[in-house]
Amino acid sequence: MSERQLLVSKIENGIVIDHIPAGKAFQVLKLLKLPDDARALVAQNVDSESMEAKDLIKIEGSYLTSSEIDIIAFVAPNATLNNIENWQVKEKRVITLPEKIEGAFNCPNTLCPTNTRYTAPNTSFTVEAGKQLEETKLHCIYCGSITYYGTIQENIQSESFRIERRGLVSKEKIEEVFLDMLIQGGALRFSRSPEEPFILKSGRPSPYFINLGALTDGESLAKLKWAFASYIALLREQGKITDFDYVFGPSYKGISLAALTCEGLNELYGMDMRYMYDRKEAKEYGDMSSDKVLVGANYFQPGQRLLVVDDTITTGLTKVETLEKLRLLGDHEVVGMVIAVDRQEALGDKDNVEEQSAVQYLEEELGIPVFSIQNIQSIFNLIKDSIGDDIKKLWVDYYSKYGIVDLD
Ligand code: CTP
Ligand code: ZN
Repeated sequence: MSERQLLVSKIENGIVIDHIPAGKAFQVLKLLKLPDDARALVAQNVDSESMEAKDLIKIEGSYLTSSEIDIIAFVAPNATLNNIENWQVKEKRVITLPEKIEGAFNCPNTLCPTNTRYTAPNTSFTVEAGKQLEETKLHCIYCGSITYYGTIQENIQSESFRIERRGLVSKEKIEEVFLDMLIQGGALRFSRSPEEPFILKSGRPSPYFINLGALTDGESLAKLKWAFASYIALLREQGKITDFDYVFGPSYKGISLAALTCEGLNELYGMDMRYMYDRKEAKEYGDMSSDKVLVGANYFQPGQRLLVVDDTITTGLTKVETLEKLRLLGDHEVVGMVIAVDRQEALGDKDNVEEQSAVQYLEEELGIPVFSIQNIQSIFNLIKDSIGDDIKKLWVDYYSKYGIVDLD
């Protein structure tokens, strides 16, 4: 058997990439990211009738997707791809540069929409083929930036091509980071002994106390921004809230939250909306025009939609009052409300326990869906094994009396 015959011993099923420019076989192989147990044969610098010398790859039992073929074209244009079935060449095609290449290479422009985190669109380039392979350029269809052949090669060599899709963050992950941040930043405090509960405004003796106002450090603010933006993007994706034009934050605590959320949605998800908040003192001026009471309202167009963000809902009534101010906008829609923590407790005070929780009241009173990043039930489930029995009893008793959920 001659050397040539040996190298081309036939395969039963799979692919043969033939006529690869000499010396390029291993680069092509790297692009294919074959599993470790793949059966492959690589031949370098073998004689060829049409070329001086060529490389060749045979892979048993495997086929290529069209996007894999497209990427190979940037390394080995004019190679021949043979699909082998049952010892026969079933299909033969010359690999050529595609006109368009999607999701394979990153755009070099850091400000390109394809480089935003989480919900970036797949990259898409039109391919400008030159007379020589080295003259090939990519044009980003989103930002117009050009990638030259040298950079394409660098991408291929460094394997930074084929970016992972930047997906949404799971609710579980958001909850976990958020709870950690609340505790670290001192925004969620737990009673240390059953004799020292936190006395709430309602007079109820609570086993915990939540105050987002305690979060004034940069790191906590960054996490707040991340959590609100990620959760809202998730709700949008799941269709639980519709599109909106404004993030509205009831003063005072809602103001920074709305601004952070707005920025986070832009930075992480490429969404561009405005934020708006209400002025508490407006009545003193006697001017009830919308842009005196609602900061940001001067951009408002009739029919636009708002998403409300806030830390928590204690009475529901104050929230209703705030939202009544939105009437000044005229025709508008509130698509939902996203709060940091739902206390999941019934309205009322120490001695009176109403049927509804603040969230339920709000949903029923205003017909606005309310979503919370964290709620007491999941917080309790996460901490219950690390607290003493007497503290645990404080939580369970409190919720059996005032809660709308049972803790155990
Ligand atoms: N091949 C293989 N196993 C098979 C059939 C073919 O490995 N069962 C390989 C051949 O060795 C060759 C390539 O697939 O490298 C293409 O096969 P074929 O079309 O028969 O060879 P050529 O005519 O030489 O191809 P081309 O015209 O593309 O040069
Ligand atoms: Zn781009």
